[in-house]
Amino acid sequence: MKVVVVGSGGREHALAVVLGRTAEVVVTPGNPMIPGSVDTPVADLVADGSVDLVVFGPEQPLVAGHADRLRAKGVRVFGPGADGARLEGSKAFMKLIAEEAQLPTARWEAFEDANRAEDFLRTMDPPYVVKTDGLAAGKGVLVTGSLSDAIADVNGKLDGASFGSAGERIVIEEGLVGTEVSVFAVCDGTRAVCLPAAQDFKRVGDGDAGPNTGGMGAWSPVPFVPDGFEDEVNRRFIEPTLAELRQRGIDFRGVLYAGLMITADGPKLIEYNVRFGDPDSQVVLLRMTSDLAELLAAAADGDLTRVDAPTFSDEAAVLVVAASEGYPVAPRTGDAIAGVEAAAALDGVTVLGAGVGRNPAGELVTTGGRVLNVLATAADAGAARERAYAAVEQISWSGEHHRTDIAAPPAS
Ligand code: AMP
Ligand code: GLY
Repeated sequence: MKVVVVGSGGREHALAVVLGRTAEVVVTPGNPMIPGSVDTPVADLVADGSVDLVVFGPEQPLVAGHADRLRAKGVRVFGPGADGARLEGSKAFMKLIAEEAQLPTARWEAFEDANRAEDFLRTMDPPYVVKTDGLAAGKGVLVTGSLSDAIADVNGKLDGASFGSAGERIVIEEGLVGTEVSVFAVCDGTRAVCLPAAQDFKRVGDGDAGPNTGGMGAWSPVPFVPDGFEDEVNRRFIEPTLAELRQRGIDFRGVLYAGLMITADGPKLIEYNVRFGDPDSQVVLLRMTSDLAELLAAAADGDLTRVDAPTFSDEAAVLVVAASEGYPVAPRTGDAIAGVEAAAALDGVTVLGAGVGRNPAGELVTTGGRVLNVLATAADAGAARERAYAAVEQISWSGEHHRTDIAAPPAS
């Protein structure tokens, strides 16, 4: 099978590694650390009919309808059309579907008027949650205990100062309290299989201090989710969602990524994304022992019944993101990266390239905020964590920073 992966980060690197076990893989545009990276646009790659499957990494091309355009040309695509991608492209749409499908989720309302939004906020208890309706590169969400900060955020978003048009409409939600986990459901439009849960560490600093990021680390399996959790998520969240989407004529073939809060009242949906998480899917995908290309091709064909349930290694995977100076506020780019080979040579370690490129001298340099994903597998999470951090120690550039508490046992 020949597979084209669209994207350029750590998630796409992981997809290329795992798909590459059973398929020939090309990644566009990829990055210098991802084998099979090419500059050719996907439309040109599929033109000669030799591509068996296109897998979209990020959400933007899905929201923009690129999966629809390829499907219209007869290409087999894993990734929803623009209609299904609205689940991620519009928080208000996602909340509407959640309501119609009667999913457990936070109470919410959408606003375009700051005074009405402020009145609603005053009826809520902390933590206050204010979101841009539109895509904001994972940065459009404020969770705060301070009512005045929440009100200031409402005003900044609605007057366009902080997020431009993505913030013309906002969603205010009940703040959920608990532990967050990610579940990735591979969907064929009707059915779904849920992969093992992972946990993402979203705040920039140790102990969950500082601003939200795209994710500073991840691990899987997550020891605190009960047996059968993924099946419960499928039954209570994913299947009703697919049914609701089908009723609206939406044939969702791709990943439904459920961001869940495990609260005192059971799991509640925080959000849906329409793609694999980054970096939380990397720790799941690298543990997969069955054929990912066959699974995604079956989903793309609308027929998951033709493949066996995916299988996963019993080993634990721990991933630490090495980030650039200033991330997430103002990441600096262009710093030369050292030590990747030494890190990757360690037992059980895979170094995935995320925000990396080459400078004119041919050196590997930082090109984004989240630069590398240092991932290790081992018999248990403690051993995987030790391996991951030993590998992180090998890597350096000016201003590199990372969390030191990914997958750490709770402080006693
Ligand atoms: P989102 O972009 O909707 O995933 O939000 C980003 C992050 O903000 C989530 O991963 C949570 O950590 C946090 N968050 C979002 N919504 C809520 C909520 N209703 N209650 C508590 N935390 C939330
Ligand atoms: N790690 C969070 C995300 O992919 O949205």
